[in-house]
Amino acid sequence: MKLVGSLLLTLTLFLSSALTLSNLSPGCANLQPPDSPTPGGESAPLTISVPSAGGLRTYLLSIPHNPSRSPSPLILAFHGKDQTAAQFESQTQLTDPAFRLRKSIVAFPQGINEQWLGDPTSPPRSERDDIAFAQALSRELGEKWCVDLTRVYLVGFSNGGGLTHLLACDPEVSKQVAAAAIVSGAFYKDHSLKGYEPLFGTCHKKDAPLPILEMHGSADPVIHYDGKSTPDGETYPLKKWLKDWRKRNGCAGAQWEQKRDIHDRSVQKTEWRCGMGKEGAKVVVVHYFIRGFGHGWPSTGSQDDDGQRYGPVWWNGTSDIVGFLAGKRLGDEDGVGEWEERARDEL
Ligand SMILES: *[C@@H]1O[C@H](CO)[C@@H](O)[C@H](O)[C@H]1NC(C)=O
Repeated sequence: MKLVGSLLLTLTLFLSSALTLSNLSPGCANLQPPDSPTPGGESAPLTISVPSAGGLRTYLLSIPHNPSRSPSPLILAFHGKDQTAAQFESQTQLTDPAFRLRKSIVAFPQGINEQWLGDPTSPPRSERDDIAFAQALSRELGEKWCVDLTRVYLVGFSNGGGLTHLLACDPEVSKQVAAAAIVSGAFYKDHSLKGYEPLFGTCHKKDAPLPILEMHGSADPVIHYDGKSTPDGETYPLKKWLKDWRKRNGCAGAQWEQKRDIHDRSVQKTEWRCGMGKEGAKVVVVHYFIRGFGHGWPSTGSQDDDGQRYGPVWWNGTSDIVGFLAGKRLGDEDGVGEWEERARDEL
């Protein structure tokens, strides 16, 4: 009897600590963090070998000041077609102290030939698996650094926004991602991709909501808002894409929609909440309809955008995106809110 009791106690202790520790990446146990990159310094170019994704792949990595043993959120940020990771870092300013998500580790993966899976001219997944690249990268970063596994976020622009969608629809990746933000997303229809998997219309996302934000210019000349006359092949009209994400995020029944004009009426922001009652409902889909804006990253700075942005604008998209991501945490939907307190006690 006594033995059973102590076994039960041991088992309970083991289970409760496993629950907590499973939110910390293995890197939280490293006493000596890696040499590169220098915390708080410049982003360093690094490589990782992913055979299914074309072999040696590269990425830029930025580590916050004082990455202590308390866990950091992780952002994977995917550039657009014909862009480098370095250009995307300066375009988004995600590592600039003025915008940076508090204590975040930020990685800018580089696509082969400056493009990603999901573009009509990209090889199919069987030849170059960018989803495997993203998975391998987030695993490696979690092994080296101390990552809060409830706060892994995706950010993507244009073709990189398309990859963000495909990642959010992957049955494995979607279980690990707390939220995603996309600007000028390129979501091609099946026939534009010649039927190559993975397809944008087929989503194998986990059952729980994955909060997602999309910003799109009403005058985008590269990925048209209505999808029809997009130069590289037809894409999903944004209205249809947003509706599909509401459905995937469980908004088929009760849902609340809130529309507001923001940023001096240059943007119509729509938020959809769903769940239990209006107050308790979670925001699961957010859309910025940017009036008169083209194809580019909203920012007050001037940018190298081939004249397609019709900018600059008088607000910074990165501030809004970081604000959206900051509060999102994997497992929130199950009420696992007190984790941070417990983790701090046990570190
Ligand atoms: C946008 O960001 C720039 C820095 O890149 C800053 O100087 C400017 O004040 C910001 N504008 C707004 C409206 O926040």
